[in-house]
Amino acid sequence: MLEKFDRYPLTFGKTPIEHLPRLTKALGGKVEIYAKREDCNSGLALGGNKLRKLEYIVPDAIASGADTLVSIGGVQSNHTRMVAATAAKIGMKCRLVQESWVAHDDAVYDRVGNILLTRLMGADSRIVDDGFDIGMRSSFEEAMQSVREEGGKPYGIPAGGSVHKFGGLGYVAFAQEVREQEQELGFTFDYIVVCVVTGSTQAGMIVGFKVDGRAKNVIGIDASGKVEQTRAQVKNIAIKTAKLIGLGQEITDEDIHINPDYAYPAYGVPSHETNEAIRLAAQTEAMITDPVYEGKSMQGMIDLVRKDYFPAGAKILYVHLGGAPALNGYSYTYRNG
Ligand SMILES: Cc1ncc(COP(=O)(O)O)c(C=O)c1O
Repeated sequence: MLEKFDRYPLTFGKTPIEHLPRLTKALGGKVEIYAKREDCNSGLALGGNKLRKLEYIVPDAIASGADTLVSIGGVQSNHTRMVAATAAKIGMKCRLVQESWVAHDDAVYDRVGNILLTRLMGADSRIVDDGFDIGMRSSFEEAMQSVREEGGKPYGIPAGGSVHKFGGLGYVAFAQEVREQEQELGFTFDYIVVCVVTGSTQAGMIVGFKVDGRAKNVIGIDASGKVEQTRAQVKNIAIKTAKLIGLGQEITDEDIHINPDYAYPAYGVPSHETNEAIRLAAQTEAMITDPVYEGKSMQGMIDLVRKDYFPAGAKILYVHLGGAPALNGYSYTYRNG
């Protein structure tokens, strides 16, 4: 399905699927929990889900003759870290707009974690005051324009790489990769649990798993706190991606399953339950999740297991998309573990 698209390799290859026996046991042992480790997917600046998307975006950026990748995210954005890494790796410049998406006052928030790595890789990162929004922003256009005015040729990548025309392809390929690994494992997963914010990760999976009738078994755990905007974006990207690859099947509302219950109190702000989920994953499996994204999807999965949402014996694939560097921006929150 994806052979006709150019792909620039930025990742190691297939990511491991790991059984989580101690987390499984801690949650009562009625369902089996596995993790697909997208957080360990590359040697580029600690990796993460954005690289699968960028692998399909980079050939277009190179073909455009651009010399500067331009993108946007929050101060502790994983996405902008990955764009900075990609620019360094392919020898382009990088201009980033980092918006104040999170009302969080840790003293070192704008100096550690993602933004520290981003600056180390030589990106020109500019912090602005605008609040959280996954849509297109005027600050992004201004950044594009500023590169042009300096004589450069910008290539724009939207927040999370999501509404880019090729943004959904990486996670269509992910579904194919899971099917291949299922062959080796000798069983199939009943549910796939994934964090959702800007949408193209889940949208790509929906298209990829539509092929074998499992789109609706992809459970997105919203971490945006603006679930209707996220749902609309997932649907839009899934429909466009399905068309782009010639899926030959229509994406419908029934294919899009997003749970809004765990994003509280706000994007980037962990609840007590988020922190407990982060601690449980760390203390049972040494699997590190963050307060913005994976901590919330971990919280969602834990709660759904405890509520017996999944039938006994179900095999669940928790997709770990990365994001641990942001923990450094929350050092006060976790000062006692
Ligand atoms: C670590 C991490 N997890 C989950 C997500 C959500 O993915 P998406 O934005 O494609 O919905 C992101 C990006 O927003 C992320 O950086």
